[in-house]
Amino acid sequence: MTIETALFLGRFLQNPRRVGAVAPSSSRLAWRATVPVPDTGHPVVVELGPGTGAFTELIQRRLGGRGCHLALEVDPVFTALLRRRFPMVDVVAAAAEDLPDVLAAYGLPPADVVVSGLPWTVLPAALVDRTMAAIVAGMAPHGAFTTFAYLHASWTSPARRLRNRLTGVFEEVVVGRTVWANLPPALVYHARRPRHQSAGARHGRNCSSTRPSR
Ligand SMILES: C[S@@+](CC[C@H](N)C(=O)[O-])C[C@H]1O[C@@H](n2cnc3c(N)ncnc32)[C@H](O)[C@@H]1O
Repeated sequence: MTIETALFLGRFLQNPRRVGAVAPSSSRLAWRATVPVPDTGHPVVVELGPGTGAFTELIQRRLGGRGCHLALEVDPVFTALLRRRFPMVDVVAAAAEDLPDVLAAYGLPPADVVVSGLPWTVLPAALVDRTMAAIVAGMAPHGAFTTFAYLHASWTSPARRLRNRLTGVFEEVVVGRTVWANLPPALVYHARRPRHQSAGARHGRNCSSTRPSR
């Protein structure tokens, strides 16, 4: 058992409803969940609930020094570990539902990519709704969002509610293939194009208004 795995289990035993898993995600799950991080440009990437850093490591590798990477974590032990392990990441001791305020405090534009490790199925429904609204508010119109759910729990009502919520707030939601190489096996949801509240009003123009005159 690695130090991270032992620490993760210890934090789960202390606060099972906040940590929501007995072990960190596998490298295979991390690979799938971080696919939307682009190979080029300088994206703003936000990670929610990084834990001991299973996704953090891969996001950093995919970014290769480009863009910026904010990680929002509520557990103080994980936050301290992440700051030591990943000096290039802005690790913020904040809840995911504070995302718009955190972006504003850092002077950053809405995120291009949000990767979530949040334990959705053990969070109260009202908190899920508030957090989802904050994620949408903190994302660019072209933004991509990934999150995961454990296969064995995918037919429970919290998991169904999460899927309904995702399809309500994103234009496109695709469920990836089962990641069997994870304890327990998991599914990754890939969502794109958040439905911003006043999108119609802000972006409601046709191409002719921007087309150059000939
Ligand atoms: C299932 S663990 C996932 C950890 C890591 N991403 C992984 O896949 O190994 C959930 C993580 O979300 C954190 N968390 C729970 N509620 C949160 C919230 N409202 N905002 C930010 N982090 C939260 C927990 O402390 C924990 O680190």
